[in-house]
Amino acid sequence: MSQAKKRRVFSGIQPTGQLHLGNYLGAIRHWVRGQGQKENFICIVDLHAITVFQEPEALRHNTRSLAAMLLAAGIDPDQTTLFVQSHVRAHAEGSWFLSCITPLGRLERMTQYKDKSARQERVDTGLLTYPVLQAADILLYDADEVPVGEDQKQHLELSRDIAQRFNHLYGDTFVVPEPKIAKVGARIMGFDDPTAKMSKSLAGKGHSVLMTDQDKVIEKTLKRAVTDSGNEIVYSEDPEKAGVNNLLTIYQLMTDKTPEQVLADFADARGYGDLKKGVAEAVIEGVRPIRERYNELMADPAELDGLLARGAEQARAVAEPKLIQVKEKMGFGVPAEVRP
Ligand code: TYM
Repeated sequence: MSQAKKRRVFSGIQPTGQLHLGNYLGAIRHWVRGQGQKENFICIVDLHAITVFQEPEALRHNTRSLAAMLLAAGIDPDQTTLFVQSHVRAHAEGSWFLSCITPLGRLERMTQYKDKSARQERVDTGLLTYPVLQAADILLYDADEVPVGEDQKQHLELSRDIAQRFNHLYGDTFVVPEPKIAKVGARIMGFDDPTAKMSKSLAGKGHSVLMTDQDKVIEKTLKRAVTDSGNEIVYSEDPEKAGVNNLLTIYQLMTDKTPEQVLADFADARGYGDLKKGVAEAVIEGVRPIRERYNELMADPAELDGLLARGAEQARAVAEPKLIQVKEKMGFGVPAEVRP
């Protein structure tokens, strides 16, 4: 009997600084849980990272460190192709072809571009064309699904539009990918300001829990989490209650409980102090084994490099033939000597 083809999943993450709880709950956990049922490709997007200046040594370290963190969080290299973007040339090359069918105005209207460029003294072209490279990442793998946090929604809409435009101009070539944004946890907020999403670029004291934080640090961050002047522990869309809502969401995800069970756990809480304590315990329990495994993995860089080399080879086997198909459709000759 022929087996049904597994749906293909692609997602990416930047090796810029330390991973935080938002990355974990909004994205990585879903990648880990989807393994086995689907064909997973997870890409460490170092080419995206350089759209803002990276110290070369830091980039090298962060790329390895991110690989270790993903493995520690449960990415299984036997079930997921885990690789580094710059190890597969097709991404940068594919991005050029796609940029030639992407309207400039669409890129200028991207909210992430507007936010990031407003914070830079000089804005380099890569920051603008960033979402085209992201489209190349996804489309080269014929990904059916792209699991991401809420902040990537606009980029994925562009990827879909680019795929459709290409298919319209050159005939059916790309799968039009579907964003997979979880209903709960797709936008984890900062502990210091629950109206702003948790973000690497806002990292500072009290803003986020990093996946490498020690228990004591996590406890302290949660203790200082901004809430409101009331004392009601409820899920609420009210912007006033954003802090409490964020804490309950995090607790729910870390403990895998239903909202009813979560509220029952805090039914006897005496104010937000107890809530923060309970959330801190749940976060510490979830983060500790990941941090410990991460430290073990970082002790063996050769093993990590070997895994990434294997991942890149598997990724190239998919992306390179796809790129040839793209070039042929567009009218480029692809002589034998430039084929992989
Ligand atoms: P990046 O590296 O900023 O973030 C990685 C993933 O973490 C999610 N995320 C969050 N989820 C919930 N709450 C938060 N506070 C939070 N902060 C971050 C992000 O939504 C993302 O899913 N452009 C992408 C990387 C990328 C990519 C791709 C993604 C490059 N190519 C192809 C998917 C497919 C980015 O910068 O993610």
